[in-house]
Amino acid sequence: MNTPAKVCVVGAGLMGHGIAQTFAQAGHPVSLFDVDKNTLELAPLLVERNLRQLGVEPEPILDNIKLCSDVASAALSAGFIIEAVTENLSLKQALFALLAELAPEHAILASNTSVIPITDIGEKLSGPVRSRLVGTHWWNPPHLIPLVEVIKTPFTDNAVFEATFDLMLSIGKQPVKVFQDVPGFIGNRLQHAMWREALYLVSTGVCDAETIDTVVKNSFGMRMPFLGPMENADLVGLKLIQQVHQFIFPHLCNEQSPRPMIEDLIKQGFLGMESGKGLQNWPPEKAENVRKNLSNRLIDSLKD
Ligand SMILES: NC(=O)c1ccc[n+]([C@@H]2O[C@H](COP(=O)([O-])OP(=O)(O)OC[C@H]3O[C@@H](n4cnc5c(N)ncnc54)[C@H](O)[C@@H]3O)[C@@H](O)[C@H]2O)c1
Repeated sequence: MNTPAKVCVVGAGLMGHGIAQTFAQAGHPVSLFDVDKNTLELAPLLVERNLRQLGVEPEPILDNIKLCSDVASAALSAGFIIEAVTENLSLKQALFALLAELAPEHAILASNTSVIPITDIGEKLSGPVRSRLVGTHWWNPPHLIPLVEVIKTPFTDNAVFEATFDLMLSIGKQPVKVFQDVPGFIGNRLQHAMWREALYLVSTGVCDAETIDTVVKNSFGMRMPFLGPMENADLVGLKLIQQVHQFIFPHLCNEQSPRPMIEDLIKQGFLGMESGKGLQNWPPEKAENVRKNLSNRLIDSLKD
């Protein structure tokens, strides 16, 4: 049996600590680095909390995660390096330029960016280095949500793309192949197409924000874990889909900018759960209930 490759995770924040946990749970030695010492030191505590929630003994898994105080020691002898640093193009470009110097020549270099094209992140790297660059878009919380979008750029070596896909499978993820490096990849394009329409309906007074969630959770949202939209289209039949689209598409929002309503709320300091109000009011206990309910339900769904 092959020894699991050493994995280096750069950035130990919301995504990074959960990505490190996932590799560690699958038996990989993981080195974890963050420029912020407090974030780095908090990571094992968050991993421990996650594991206890899952009913998993934390010690053996935490033993697989080594906290590193510099990126050079984190990257040393790593076979797979994934960055989950702040969403900023020049920061990510500079980081990969540094990793190109520090990482072993065979190491796969992966970015967990949400929406920045991987091609842009790698544009200043030399040909041999960027052939090892690939996108791996995880979803929050990364230790619970199965999907990882594996993104190929025009310069990603096919063997790197396939090896990354296989690695994600081997650690228990549900990888998918994204053959073109389009902004937002697949999942975020779908998700935000719906959010654009939802915010349009709210800001034009068709309904309130709470109603959007009631509609989604009590209708097509209920079916989605069992029936994807493409399966659904075939289920109801393509003639019906064509008729519906002929009628409805001209009425759907196709604006290119975020809705002004969002900017107005931000200007008033209504940022969402963190500030007690966003599209809806969020007293702390209500917000906490949403977070708890989400992780409990996700954990339950993984047991099925
Ligand atoms: N939050 C999500 O739901 C989500 C989902 C998928 C992908 N992502 C992407 O993952 C990445 C990380 O997002 P997050 O939500 O974990 O952010 P976060 O702010 O929680 O964590 C980012 C961490 O990067 C660290 N950092 C910044 N520069 C660094 C450097 N040069 N070297 C090492 N560490 C550095 C910061 O100190 C911070 O702890 C972003 O690209 C984001 O778009 C986020």
